[in-house]
Amino acid sequence: MKILITGGAGFVGSTLCIQLKKKYPNYKITAFDNLKRRGSELNLAIFKQYEIEFIHGDIRNNEDLDEIQEFDVLIEASAEPSVMAGLNSNPNYVINNNFNGSINCFNLCLKFKAKLIFLSTSRVYPIQKIENANYIEETTRFSFNEYQIEKGISSLGISEELNLNGERSFYGTTKLASELFIQEYAAFYDVEAAITRFGVIAGPKQMGKTDQGVVTLWMAKHYWKNPLKYIGYGGLGKQVRDILHIDDLVNLIDLQIHEIKKFKNKIYNAGGGIQSSASLLEMTKICEEITGNKINISAEPENRKADLRAYITDNTKITTEIGWKPEKNVKNVLQDVFLWLNENEKSLKDILS
Ligand SMILES: NC(=O)c1ccc[n+]([C@@H]2O[C@H](COP(=O)([O-])OP(=O)(O)OC[C@H]3O[C@@H](n4cnc5c(N)ncnc54)[C@H](O)[C@@H]3O)[C@@H](O)[C@H]2O)c1
Repeated sequence: MKILITGGAGFVGSTLCIQLKKKYPNYKITAFDNLKRRGSELNLAIFKQYEIEFIHGDIRNNEDLDEIQEFDVLIEASAEPSVMAGLNSNPNYVINNNFNGSINCFNLCLKFKAKLIFLSTSRVYPIQKIENANYIEETTRFSFNEYQIEKGISSLGISEELNLNGERSFYGTTKLASELFIQEYAAFYDVEAAITRFGVIAGPKQMGKTDQGVVTLWMAKHYWKNPLKYIGYGGLGKQVRDILHIDDLVNLIDLQIHEIKKFKNKIYNAGGGIQSSASLLEMTKICEEITGNKINISAEPENRKADLRAYITDNTKITTEIGWKPEKNVKNVLQDVFLWLNENEKSLKDILS
């Protein structure tokens, strides 16, 4: 089996490369990445150790893609993954990178008759539909009320039934557009594909920054005792996300690589779910417990563009139809991120502190 992972030096891509190589030593794994995300370069030495091939290239550039040799499965894990991308700057970058670049990758699948695994996002769902849900304000978090008008929203979170009309950010739209095109490739060129809409993914190797990778950001600031801010929704820190441990994602992608037919013509949500969810306030408490450090967290009451009060993945469909469910929770994620920072303190300090 030959697997190509675009964005292979990123958080998700590099973890997939390494974990798949460990599990299937005979597979040829190739990571393709332009090393745009700061910190992704740290993975190159690890790739050598595991005999993972690395190609330095850009998915927007077909001449770079021409270097790629035949493969059986493409995992498209490259992206500008920030929901803020293009909202305060020229949107061309996120559109070219995430949409046009992805199309080039899909064409590679045609060239080699390869399977396609696409990492989509919960951000395809419209912002206003989620913001207009009924919430309960609890002591430490906002929760979805059990009484909801909109189909696809419940106390379990957001399901695939939520209507897709409405704005969702440039990032989310590039991903939705890619999903739609994959369906065309599947229908008219028989490309076997799996599309999954992931909520927040977190774990070791994520180079968290203020606009993307909040779990690492939170732990790193506690670890190096630097300040943070609760931004938006009154600055209370009650906004909530479900958090999927990267190991649970790897299990799902492993299944998609080997049993892709189960995912044919389907789109699934996958995330940590309600059992693995936390507000910023709750994450602060866990970070304090793990690090023993208490830091200054100020309040910035105004909302950032495209932010959400709460997002929780309703995993009912994928659990019922595929049998996949997350095994790990928020505490496991934060504990593992802490250990990773601790083991790699020297190389990570400049990037994450
Ligand atoms: N992290 C999350 O919470 C999350 C949630 C849902 C979906 N996703 C999706 O999962 C995928 C992986 O995300 P991640 O968290 O690993 O992000 P990441 O930023 O850590 O990794 C992305 C990698 O892609 C590379 N890259 C970017 N543009 C490129 C280009 N034009 N050509 C080649 N390489 C390029 C970057 O250098 C980086 O190494 C993305 O498609 C993202 O949209 C992530």
